[in-house]
Amino acid sequence: MLESTDFKVADLSLAEAGRHQIRLAEREMPGLMALREEFGQSKPLTGARIAGSLHMTVQTAVLIETLVVLGAQVRWASCNIFSTQDEAAAAVVVGTGSVDAPAGVPVFAWKGETLEEYWWAADKIFDFDEGANLILDDGGDATMYVLKGAQAELDGGVPTAGEDDPEDFKVLLAQVHSSLEASPGRFARMAAGIKGVSEETTTGVNRLYRLAEEGKLPFPAINVNDSVTKSKFDNRYGIRHSLPDGLNRATDVLIGGKIAVVVGYGDVGKGAAEALRGQGARVIVTEIDPICALQATMDGYQVEHLAAVAPSADIIITTTGNTRVVGVEVLQSLKPGAIVGNVGHFDDEIDLAGLAKLSGVTKVEVKAQVHEWRVPVPADLGLDRDRTDFLVLSEGRLLNLGNATGHPSFVMSASFANQVLAQIELWNSPDRYDDDVHRLAKELDEKVARLHLPALGARLSDLSKEQAEYIGVDVAGPYKPEHYRY
Ligand code: NAI
Repeated sequence: MLESTDFKVADLSLAEAGRHQIRLAEREMPGLMALREEFGQSKPLTGARIAGSLHMTVQTAVLIETLVVLGAQVRWASCNIFSTQDEAAAAVVVGTGSVDAPAGVPVFAWKGETLEEYWWAADKIFDFDEGANLILDDGGDATMYVLKGAQAELDGGVPTAGEDDPEDFKVLLAQVHSSLEASPGRFARMAAGIKGVSEETTTGVNRLYRLAEEGKLPFPAINVNDSVTKSKFDNRYGIRHSLPDGLNRATDVLIGGKIAVVVGYGDVGKGAAEALRGQGARVIVTEIDPICALQATMDGYQVEHLAAVAPSADIIITTTGNTRVVGVEVLQSLKPGAIVGNVGHFDDEIDLAGLAKLSGVTKVEVKAQVHEWRVPVPADLGLDRDRTDFLVLSEGRLLNLGNATGHPSFVMSASFANQVLAQIELWNSPDRYDDDVHRLAKELDEKVARLHLPALGARLSDLSKEQAEYIGVDVAGPYKPEHYRY
């Protein structure tokens, strides 16, 4: 039974509703269910104590419970203040127990956390009696938290945040500070106990590669994002589903006929553009990478500068994982009624913090996670108006999770099957991985795809021995060289 204080969710009485949704999701997550079947007896994660930081949705509930079936102890927080589905969080906490005596997994997540609560929850996931020994991360915040704290201990104190540092960073440092005061040496112990991290998304992976280059990664990392069965499916087909879902639930505006601008044409941008075109929007793409820009043109999209198209855009969606790609001037140039949203990992893609500093800017809450910004338009923009107003979804954070419920189960099954395999690898084969960023072997990537084909009625052809020799691969795979791009 869980200690009554050892979890924090919105409302345990939502557990039954959450359990129904989890039950339905399991049917759509053949990869995770097959891994339960394969490893449920041998329990390869026995002894693993996993600190998880990933959107606390129904699909994540199926992931958490799979890790438990495989023998792990787990503690969980969401990696975004708006993305938790409260009924899923409640169901995971209650587990096989009752609302009065929960017996599931300690979860520290609810929809609409403050930043202070977010970083408090990030701290709580490491509170196993003997400390966490693995991290399962999405965006890198849990990893950053441990490493920032450990660095502060080495430096003899928490650094002071600069005036211009983002609010998020300031709150992170405050949490490190209070945690250190309560338990000196905590972060050094935490960092020393971690055997590895598996990272879910592009932004988190970028952070890990940078740490490794600087020689600051003290444990192995597995880049789950760049398994083909993750980024080429979740980032693309997942967003193709969940972006229009978020737009519809937030605004219910007809997308057909509108001018929609997709900022960035990577995996997520490709899915976003396809979804908007599928709804009949006239889609324009902006890119900084000539290869992705050329791909966009071949796919039939106009490629333009954002400043040139923003004043006539009805919908602008950022997908870059970069900072301030929609700047203050672009926001001031938007036409009244435009909708602006982000599906990249962090909230600084749209410079709302910069806009909020201008005088005369006001913000009205239309409903939760939908705000109307009223903004003066400077005369030097040469526009025929002196004020504008536009809608911002989820305060610039991931709108597909803030305004809707994120990607659907089937595509998350592929992503999370990679996560489970990565955790098994880190726990059972530590000698294979040094303190660097690694990808899962292609055999495992192909295995994840294989696990999902029967559910869709797909029948894979057999490669003959003669054909295998002819193209220089093994009959059982892998079927492509590492440099193949799919
Ligand atoms: P990616 O690297 O494949 O694509 C990003 C693209 O943005 C690149 O092609 C890059 O050239 C372009 N870009 C960068 N700066 C730009 C600028 N100033 N203007 C125009 N284009 C610019 O990355 P991916 O996998 O598409 O991920 C993008 C973001 O979405 C990441 O933050 C990732 O973590 C996040 N993500 C969000 C998901 C969600 O459910 N909302 C799911 C998966 C990933």
